[in-house]
Amino acid sequence: MEQKVMIKLDGLKKYFAIEKGIVKKTVTYVKAVDDITLDIHEGEIVGLVGESGSGKTTLARVILNLSKMTDGNILIDGINLATATRDDMKKLRSEIAVVFQDPASNLNPRQTVESSIMRPMVIHGVPKETAKKKARDVLDMVKMDQRYLDSYPHQLSGGQLQRIAIARALALNPRVMILDEPTSALDVSVQAQILNLLLDLQEQLQLTYLVITHDLNVIKYISDKIAVMYLGKLVEFGPAQEIVSHARHPYTKGLLDASPILDPRQRSRKKEVMRGDPGSLINIGEGCRFCDRCKYATEVCGKRTPDDTTMNEGHQVACFHPLNL
Ligand SMILES: Nc1ncnc2c1ncn2[C@@H]1O[C@H](COP(=O)(O)OP(=O)(O)OP(=O)(O)O)[C@@H](O)[C@H]1O
Ligand SMILES: [Mg+2]
Repeated sequence: MEQKVMIKLDGLKKYFAIEKGIVKKTVTYVKAVDDITLDIHEGEIVGLVGESGSGKTTLARVILNLSKMTDGNILIDGINLATATRDDMKKLRSEIAVVFQDPASNLNPRQTVESSIMRPMVIHGVPKETAKKKARDVLDMVKMDQRYLDSYPHQLSGGQLQRIAIARALALNPRVMILDEPTSALDVSVQAQILNLLLDLQEQLQLTYLVITHDLNVIKYISDKIAVMYLGKLVEFGPAQEIVSHARHPYTKGLLDASPILDPRQRSRKKEVMRGDPGSLINIGEGCRFCDRCKYATEVCGKRTPDDTTMNEGHQVACFHPLNL
């Protein structure tokens, strides 16, 4: 049976306008998310990677409706964000939850763990007694003892704070979770515990995840599918195994080669390390954005923007000269 599409992005754009000058005003645009089309199916874990500044957080914020899109369409569980009614939006706010990187920024320093977890429920009109009980349930789900209910954020470790943030995200029984660098601020040993907790919860609750990180080892460990962004564009998307073993986009290949190899037997693997830095997103024009750093680039790459091309079942790549053909 074909799985339900949980998040549908269709030609999604987010441009930031920046005004310069006092007398003679000029407007430039930062094309942080530029024409992204992508389907995330129910129960999938999609890992989103890309260097700093590639637009990952902006994409998450637009999906979460924390930031208004410039153009395109977003459908979440069949609800179109652009035409959603108030009731639709209320439903969406409980269906889609978020956990950010910095555990401290996820929680109010002056609130106890209990009131932090209860807050989204109270805002949503859940009766207080029900919310209190649910706070205990979700704390159990993230494997934290009930005695932490009265703690304040400064009394907890980074890993504990992130567990609380996850507990709070679970409070309204979401179907989708967006996790923006959920383990980047944590020690390596704690990272693995949090990732395993997230994997357990996903399986247990049949959640759909969009996990953002620039750590490819994290992505490889948890994802069913991998999406790669470069300067506002989605350059490659497909099944994780296939992307890791048969990357089609030179940028994906470069990223994979630049990540530390944990398996010593693989260390002799041929590497293709990228040169240079990603350019600027300001007033970016036509042509492939990776063109300047790509050793396969030809004339066409500088002139036209490559379309998303489907290579085979569910594997799309935006490149005029895909690898591994
Ligand atoms: N409110 C804003 N106004 C103007 N430009 C912005 C704004 N928010 C983000 N940007 C720009 O959009 C681009 C993408 O930023 P974003 O934070 O989405 O990247 P990212 O992939 O999440 O990076 P990182 O890995 O560092 O978190 C950057 O060039 C950033 O400067
Ligand atoms: Mg970010």
